[in-house]
Amino acid sequence: MSIRIVGTGSALPKRRVENREIVGLVDTSDAWIRERTGIAGRYISTGETVASLAAQACRRALEDAGKQAGEVELILAATCSPEEAAPCVACRIQKDIGAGNAVAFDLNAACSGFLFALHTAWAYVEAGICKNALIAGSEVLSKLVDWEDRGTCILFGDGAGAVYVEKCESGGILGFVMHADGQRGGVLAGGGRQLINPWAGRQDFRPFLEMDGREVFAFALRQVPVTVEEALGKSGLATGDIDLFVLHQANRRIIEGISKRLGADLARFPMNLEQVGNTSSAAIPLLLDQLRRQGRIERGMHLVLSGFGAGLTCGACAMEW
Ligand code: ACO
Repeated sequence: MSIRIVGTGSALPKRRVENREIVGLVDTSDAWIRERTGIAGRYISTGETVASLAAQACRRALEDAGKQAGEVELILAATCSPEEAAPCVACRIQKDIGAGNAVAFDLNAACSGFLFALHTAWAYVEAGICKNALIAGSEVLSKLVDWEDRGTCILFGDGAGAVYVEKCESGGILGFVMHADGQRGGVLAGGGRQLINPWAGRQDFRPFLEMDGREVFAFALRQVPVTVEEALGKSGLATGDIDLFVLHQANRRIIEGISKRLGADLARFPMNLEQVGNTSSAAIPLLLDQLRRQGRIERGMHLVLSGFGAGLTCGACAMEW
């Protein structure tokens, strides 16, 4: 028994921001951003919220799966950038789409969040707690980015992706691995709220995401191939069996490096980061939805999904679509 993705959806803010618009904010250039990251533009919220983008992506995933909102048993929202602490994004999705029979909660593992949520849904189905789930990855990181820091503001974009998964007797997810290394969490951290209460003195806090880009780069190149190999080992598949490696979209050079280390042709590593930048937990489901709608994913194909991010966290799963 496992779970299978039977519907996908995505949503992007209306406003597109090209590299040249960021050149006016910090000391950078379109050429530098393209060459060092592969990113040409991204979508930035001018009012869309994590919940509104997620709900739109979820509606599209349900429509794609041919399911009614009332049939959904579990809603998981992966995000590290909710607008408010409560209610959680998943409960807002539940209300917006009218999925009154679903249990709903959020999960934060930064850019690995979608994979961690997929793993949770898999475990819930395996445990007999539910038979289906709607999983969204949604971020509006533009509010946590320091638009005066050229090391981070060039990278991120806003958006959401969602999948509807269902219990299946064969195929589906075949192997799953996840890792967390809190000891090295400091290399990508921030976006906090100030402690304000009558007893707290003045506190130091980091309102924006701060990142040691080189360390994150090295972590991804080292850890993702190992994690992918582990997931393949659990699934009984080999690198050569995989039609598509759908990886977290952080940087083109990271994906190129991972393809080399795995000894797999880059053509099997689809990318959309040129158009949307790094959308954190939305990146994998957003790319899956675009690939599905382009007709590049068909039943029976073998896929690896893999993400890495703040935490530090990393995960991979191998599946038969
Ligand atoms: N424009 C122009 N120059 C820049 C810019 C910029 N936007 N950013 C940095 N530079 C400069 C640096 O100051 C440095 O100059 P120096 O040599 O005079 O000191 C030079 O370019 C090289 O800097 P590096 O940091 O070595 O550049 P690098 O090639 O590593 O690229 C980048 C930086 C793009 C951030 C890269 O390290 C990267 O992609 N890292 C991974 C980041 C990532 O994946 N983050 C998301 C994780 S997901 C999550 O959980 C949120």
